[in-house]
Amino acid sequence: MIQCQLKTGALSGLGAELYVLPLFSGQSLTPEEQQALASFGLAERLKDGDFKAGAGEQLLLFASGVKGPRRLLLLGLGEVERFTAQVWRELAGDLGIWLKGQSFREVVCELPVLDEGPEAAILAEALGKGIGLGTWIFDKYLASRQKLALKRVGLRLGGARDAKALAGLKRGLLISTGANTARELAMEPANTATPSWLASRARALAKACPRMKATVYKDADLKRLGMGGILCVGQGSREASALMALSWSCGRKNAPTVALVGKGVSFDTGGISIKPAAGMENMKFDMGGAAAVLGLMSIVDELKPKVNVIGVVASAENMPDGAAVKPGDIIRAFNGKTIEVINTDAEGRLLLIDAVSWVEKTHKPDAILDIATLTGGALVSLGQEMSIVIGNDPGLQDAVIEAGSTSGDLCWPLPLTENYARVMKSKIADLRNHPNSRYGQSITAAAFVREGLMQDTAWAHLDVAGTASRDSKREGCLPGATGVGVHLFADLLKAYGEGA
Ligand code: BES
Ligand code: MN
Ligand code: ZN
Repeated sequence: MIQCQLKTGALSGLGAELYVLPLFSGQSLTPEEQQALASFGLAERLKDGDFKAGAGEQLLLFASGVKGPRRLLLLGLGEVERFTAQVWRELAGDLGIWLKGQSFREVVCELPVLDEGPEAAILAEALGKGIGLGTWIFDKYLASRQKLALKRVGLRLGGARDAKALAGLKRGLLISTGANTARELAMEPANTATPSWLASRARALAKACPRMKATVYKDADLKRLGMGGILCVGQGSREASALMALSWSCGRKNAPTVALVGKGVSFDTGGISIKPAAGMENMKFDMGGAAAVLGLMSIVDELKPKVNVIGVVASAENMPDGAAVKPGDIIRAFNGKTIEVINTDAEGRLLLIDAVSWVEKTHKPDAILDIATLTGGALVSLGQEMSIVIGNDPGLQDAVIEAGSTSGDLCWPLPLTENYARVMKSKIADLRNHPNSRYGQSITAAAFVREGLMQDTAWAHLDVAGTASRDSKREGCLPGATGVGVHLFADLLKAYGEGA
């Protein structure tokens, strides 16, 4: 992992290979900067208009035979009035992507701390995330792989000491490692990333961490437990299905327990209700929720939230086959409810209903969060910018929205009233998995997942069908899997543990 440190003292004494100086448009240099950076001809560059500090503008300058930094990267922040943490996250991500292609071993970055802007620790965390995410790419199948040169990131706050800012940088880098783990799992194609492969990755996480325990249930166990939902999704596939749980204990007496449940469809063909061919390759991302849960669990022991965390993944491959579940089939879920399978492409909810009721029954968590690439409707309503959140507990839902906003994994609420839930009832079974209508599909899907709850546990559901993978770059993530959810869970667990 990339190391980090705080750089205090005079700028002229800074011996970094690269010094990054963010500037607002119209911002003038401090006398210290003018003096220490004199050999870069900076005053002329600014006067001549070579650098206007527009948002995203970059200018790399070189100096030779001087003390202090040898290279200077000016980073345009745009207008000071428009500066927010989100603006900075995007620019920090671009910096990370740029650094990936450079050969610097050490970079020192000044932070744009304003009197009335985001505090240093928040900016530093965003910088850590941007560098961590931006310097990661999925290149394991390429003949030419680029080794990352960057080893150390230094943080500078005008020479001042700020332990909180350094902790922020470390936290940002840590969370980005978790998100990168999620991205790696999700990018892996479905001929490798099978339910059993996910289970072996889950086991490996527990093995590396004494406070974590793994439980894996395969087909035979799922049958014994009566997990008809998970089983029916995978019954048309040659790959075994799996339910896995990682439980991490924070070591505190009376600490609350939060369960994270991820949809892990390793590939979603739609099953007998088969999907059209165009774009179907993206259905390898249908385990993005599972990837987020495992990504979070991979860093939870270092994050050390003051809550116990159970990470659950329900995983299956949804294939058409002679043995596949058919429209009209009636199956029985883990909690005893019978389900008429109207559409085999509405498979995620069948996995989740079992996983949610299983974790509620066996672990009695104080809160359950599920995360799933559940409905194309999430793309229709919120696009790729925000995830949908739907819940049964206003306090928990607000906490999710807040964690989304502080972490960058933005989400927006949709309602779930009984009128929406009604359409999920069947005439010949307790439930049906599809209302025979596309209207409000993100909500009706959530209504179905809620049927897994038998004890009215506080629950929030994240539909990340629009955000788990992207077509364009954002905040350090190139097109592809985003690891959405890891950032949000990290902030949510922190706030939850602090009783916020
Ligand atoms: N995995 C899909 C949802 C999805 C769609 C994720 C697009 C990412 C991008 C899910 O299993 C599915 O097929 N949903 C159906 C829901 C319908 C059958 C109610 C859909 O989106 O059409
Ligand atoms: Mn589907
Ligand atoms: Zn799916």
